[in-house]
Amino acid sequence: MNFRKTLKINSLGHLEIGGADCVTLAKTFGTPLYVFDEEYIRTMMRVYRDTIEEEYGGNGLVLYASKAFSCTAMYAIAKSEQIGVDVVSGGELYTAMQADFPAANIYMHGNNKLPREISYALDCKVGTIVVDAFTEADLIEEEAAKRGMVQEVLIRINPGVEAHTHAYVQTAKPDSKFGFSVDSGAAEVITKYVLSKKHLRLKGYHCHIGSQIFEKQSFVLAVQKNLAFVAKIKQKLGFEASELNMGGGFGVWYAEGDAMLPPEGYRTYLSALIAAVKQNCAEYGLRLPRILIEPGRSIVGEAGVTLYTVGAVKEIAGLRKYVAIDGGMFDNPRYCLYQSKYTALLANRAAEPCTELVSLAGKCCESGDLIGVDMNLPEAHPGDLIAVLTTGAYNYSMASNYNRNFIPPAVLVKDGKGEYIIKPQTYADLVRNDVIPDRLK
Ligand code: LLP
Repeated sequence: MNFRKTLKINSLGHLEIGGADCVTLAKTFGTPLYVFDEEYIRTMMRVYRDTIEEEYGGNGLVLYASKAFSCTAMYAIAKSEQIGVDVVSGGELYTAMQADFPAANIYMHGNNKLPREISYALDCKVGTIVVDAFTEADLIEEEAAKRGMVQEVLIRINPGVEAHTHAYVQTAKPDSKFGFSVDSGAAEVITKYVLSKKHLRLKGYHCHIGSQIFEKQSFVLAVQKNLAFVAKIKQKLGFEASELNMGGGFGVWYAEGDAMLPPEGYRTYLSALIAAVKQNCAEYGLRLPRILIEPGRSIVGEAGVTLYTVGAVKEIAGLRKYVAIDGGMFDNPRYCLYQSKYTALLANRAAEPCTELVSLAGKCCESGDLIGVDMNLPEAHPGDLIAVLTTGAYNYSMASNYNRNFIPPAVLVKDGKGEYIIKPQTYADLVRNDVIPDRLK
């Protein structure tokens, strides 16, 4: 198999991530365990940051879309790489603030920001809020007026670009809960509305056309549509956007059939986007806007693996073999939600050839609790260590305590050594907020 730089098989036949032996990690920290390679995360952040620096004179900012994996250590890494972050809830914002993340470089998203989230964002002095509803514009205006300040905002628009990806993660179709449609005229109406607010300063527009996208052309098309809109608004309302946030969405490798790009390869997405901005601005006679992008999955997805221990193995003659692990949909719900494909390895016998097609089953009480079907593996026995690759994005962040299982801890590997960035849960954590009303005692 063609491996990422972060992964290798060592002389013991064990899988290594970021130079750390997965068998040792499993012994030290237990399983299930999320493992992240710090070097890979930093490399990805730098690739995007340096591309803006070198190809766009530094007139932009990379925002790590922290919904992909949010914990204090991730904000600390983003801070030290001098990039910004996108947060999408009071909880993500609080986590960023706990890591002393510079508020000016935080962009606040969400299609239905709660009044208390808006108020908290203003208290934190978040740099930019991305407006996605009229009511939000009203709320931000009210809260900013109360504090005697002016809040910088972007408006989320929907350029109507369909990216080729799984339907659940497409967000810029005409029928979407996100943004204001350019084609319907709604984007123009909200622009006028925001411009009329005394305590809002409109900088420009944001769009996000979807996730796990490999076609550069989708981003180029979105740039074209956005800048045509910017030019129209300049002509009609005299407002010229100074910022264009193109969202995230760059695809990653999960399994056979997906493109596998080296980190440097992601430069090409941004290069195509930058070239399209330059070309369209020249055509429309617009000033070059500050460009922002919000990669989440591509920064952290391939940086992560999840380690599991094999328990029950069940062969249903002539039908299927189930290899059950000590995790499941509670630490990775993506197969259940999107039928996502993954690659699994036997981390303690990683050099052995794959001889079987098995279904990797979780331990939850429902049949759909699978990490994948027809996965290629060597014959696995109880006690073997399974590594599921590319689990860094949207696994921990979508995990739950379903069946009162623990959300696994996470370890960050640097120079071959792992350290906790998220500690293990305990049974006490599971009942921490439970209350038995007196009448039930
Ligand atoms: N910016 C905005 C406004 C977004 O909504 C998203 C993702 C991103 C940036 C980051 O996109 P990325 O670079 O990670 O593709 N739970 C799904 C993914 C949902 C993505 C939602 N928005 C999954 O597990 O595939």
